[in-house]
Amino acid sequence: MKPRDDALLSRDAEDDPVAIAADAAGAAGAMPKAPAPPRSPVAHSAMGHPHPHESARAQVAGSAHYIDDLPEVKGTLYAAPILSTVAHGTLHGVDPAEALALPGVRGVVLAADIPGDPVLAAFAHDEPIFAQGTVQHVGQVIGLVVADSVMAARRAARKVRLDITPLPAVLTVQGALAAHSWVLPPVHVRRGDAAGALAAAPHRLQGSFEVGGQEHFYLEGQIAYALPLEQGQWWIHSSTQHPGEVQHWVAHALGLDSHAVRVECRRMGGGFGGKETQAGHLAVWAALAAHKFGHPVKLRLDRDDDFVVTGKRHPFAYEWDVGFEGSGRITGLQLMMAANCGFSADLSGPVADRAVFHCDNAYFLEHVDITSYRCKTNTQSHTAFRGFGGPQGVLAIEAILGDIARHLGLDALDVRLRNLYGVGERDVTHYQMRVEDNVLHELLPQLEQSARYRQRQKAIEAWNAQSPVLKRGLAITPVKFGISFTATLFNQAGALVNVYTDGSVQINHGGAEMGQGLHTKVAQIVADELGVPLSRVLVTASDTSKVPNASATAASSGTDLNGRAAQYAARTIRDNLAAFVSGLDRCGAGAVRFEGGQVFSPSNVRRWEDVVKEAYANRIQLWSDGFYRTPKIHYDKTTLTGRPFYYFAYGAACTEVAIDTTSGESRVLAVDILHDVGRSINPAIDIGQIEGGFIQGMGWLTTEELVWDERGRLATHAPSTYKIPATGDVPRHLKIALWHEANREDNVGGSKAVGEPPFMLAVSVYEALRNAVAAGRGDGAGAGQVALTAPATAENVLRALGRVAD
Ligand code: MTE
Ligand code: MOS
Repeated sequence: MKPRDDALLSRDAEDDPVAIAADAAGAAGAMPKAPAPPRSPVAHSAMGHPHPHESARAQVAGSAHYIDDLPEVKGTLYAAPILSTVAHGTLHGVDPAEALALPGVRGVVLAADIPGDPVLAAFAHDEPIFAQGTVQHVGQVIGLVVADSVMAARRAARKVRLDITPLPAVLTVQGALAAHSWVLPPVHVRRGDAAGALAAAPHRLQGSFEVGGQEHFYLEGQIAYALPLEQGQWWIHSSTQHPGEVQHWVAHALGLDSHAVRVECRRMGGGFGGKETQAGHLAVWAALAAHKFGHPVKLRLDRDDDFVVTGKRHPFAYEWDVGFEGSGRITGLQLMMAANCGFSADLSGPVADRAVFHCDNAYFLEHVDITSYRCKTNTQSHTAFRGFGGPQGVLAIEAILGDIARHLGLDALDVRLRNLYGVGERDVTHYQMRVEDNVLHELLPQLEQSARYRQRQKAIEAWNAQSPVLKRGLAITPVKFGISFTATLFNQAGALVNVYTDGSVQINHGGAEMGQGLHTKVAQIVADELGVPLSRVLVTASDTSKVPNASATAASSGTDLNGRAAQYAARTIRDNLAAFVSGLDRCGAGAVRFEGGQVFSPSNVRRWEDVVKEAYANRIQLWSDGFYRTPKIHYDKTTLTGRPFYYFAYGAACTEVAIDTTSGESRVLAVDILHDVGRSINPAIDIGQIEGGFIQGMGWLTTEELVWDERGRLATHAPSTYKIPATGDVPRHLKIALWHEANREDNVGGSKAVGEPPFMLAVSVYEALRNAVAAGRGDGAGAGQVALTAPATAENVLRALGRVAD
């Protein structure tokens, strides 16, 4: 690279005319244009304020406990997994002799040691706990070595000899499609007459492309610590998004009732969907080892094993055929999406469903025909990952719209605006849900202005014309993300709120904390419900013995569900106290207010602590449960139609990138985001989620490349070969503004879910890169399609530029 070019690609290009313009616009207060968000009128409220995350200080100081930090019980043993070295084969035998001879080794645990069902209690019941008879991917767990130390167990696990005869393996989506290898049957969703619309369309394009998977790369790897207690009872510490499922799986494998198993999780060091089901495997394995040896057992995968054993985001392959008018408006679409699910179903059904639900993103598709294949391959079983198939659906339609715009020589934002769901018309999705809360008609133009999209588009065109090697691209893409679990039954939650006699408040709810700030938001909600300072409220570890049958903390709905359940629990306590005070002061209970740590009646003001103490002395109940279920939702699983989502979260991003057409390297220069979190419960946490989601999505689409070799071995199984974004990759200009409007549905505090939707804003990076590639190919506006495999690594950018042979 020439020095001049190097400077322009560098993050510190202070003389960068285009990105600087974006900075200046931001500094001049061009965003947000809208009126300030309506905040609670209560001066003392906890909600609506940027309170720090409840664990922030402890995490920074290193004093926040993760499972490996818990004090160990005397006699604790350590396990390490015995892994298949073959992608598909017949497993004739396991010879542990050499491993057993090593110092400190206690023994091995194999399928024969399972007292209960040897098949995991997963929904599809298709996954052996330990491989037996056949192995189905490299890294499949065949058993465990148990030893006195972690390192002794890991060393010994490598000495276990496996007798495996290889069988033919399916390693790619194409291979699975050809062999009709499915984990679940294909799904078709149709509306109108796509074939007829395509035949009659004035313009038509076809294409195919692929997007890779993504490793979760949670900072805390998968871990479980299983403690046998008295009389066949168990206590499991699990880094899990779903303690209730871990409880169910462990009980099932041990042949016990669920009431004998208690699962606890104070926090995860990140989950991102990777600990929704896959944490359960670790807990079951650790419990089986503890069962066999009668000792507590801890199992923590090292990073390479974590990569090799656990599933990732589903890689997708697409084929599409689209018809459209001269304006860019789509008239008909046929879309095939094939998900690489790995060797078992896991969550692949609902993940692939969500891709179907989101392949419209924000656009009305009148005549549409979608086929979704759930391919079985001999790889890790792919699982939930932030967005849960949504990103793979959104990417498809955004890529199609980008190609349409370039083909017609139109601005891509104009084409996107022309295809948006209407308001009061053209507003029913392909799954028959009316889009009632669409804010994109105002949000997109507002971002267009505040990010100075039109001016920068012109400036970039001029800049590209005089820059032979470096090329820039700019794109705005929206997101519309459905909030609720698509499986209606999961949209329920419980909470337990205790008020102690000193007036302090403790909350336990069914959600799990993984860094997303759930506990902080729930504490804010309860503090306001009881009118006490936030400092008086503590949220404790998720615990199946306190709140049972909780859903996974997933689908971004943690605060919606658990926040409401906790609010209702607190409301019951407040009502008890209000009735008590109304008796003292001879007023209506409705006239008693709780605010700022005080209790107001028409005739008296009392300290919260005094009311609590007095109520206790008068035998008033100071604790309560709360329960919430999401209203309005329903959906038919066989036809994928109904109202699967309570509401939609919206947003849009404007992203500018540069590529080096000689090396294929790229950089994200400037990003402006306008995102809808409803009335924010905690703007600091919400903005953090938007930043983190965007950057994680940027990693998925740019540098995070998973490579399996021809024998099905994952070649990229450590940070040395798998590149997640680092601080240096964060765009120098990253401006985030929150949409000003409260949720139009009655959701807790007027808020909207935020965990996953911003991930899909990173599709703007991919679209900006494709625009830069189009500029780099030198065939100018109207150049048409850009086939860019995602992630857009340097190699894939060069391929899209036509600079390397495939
Ligand atoms: N943020 C952090 N810091 N760590 C995480 O693991 N997971 C994401 C998102 N944000 C995650 C995160 C995913 S996949 C989901 S579904 C939501 O958080 C879950 O939490 P919520 O429902 O409370 O938003
Ligand atoms: Mo998030 S993928 O729903 O855990």
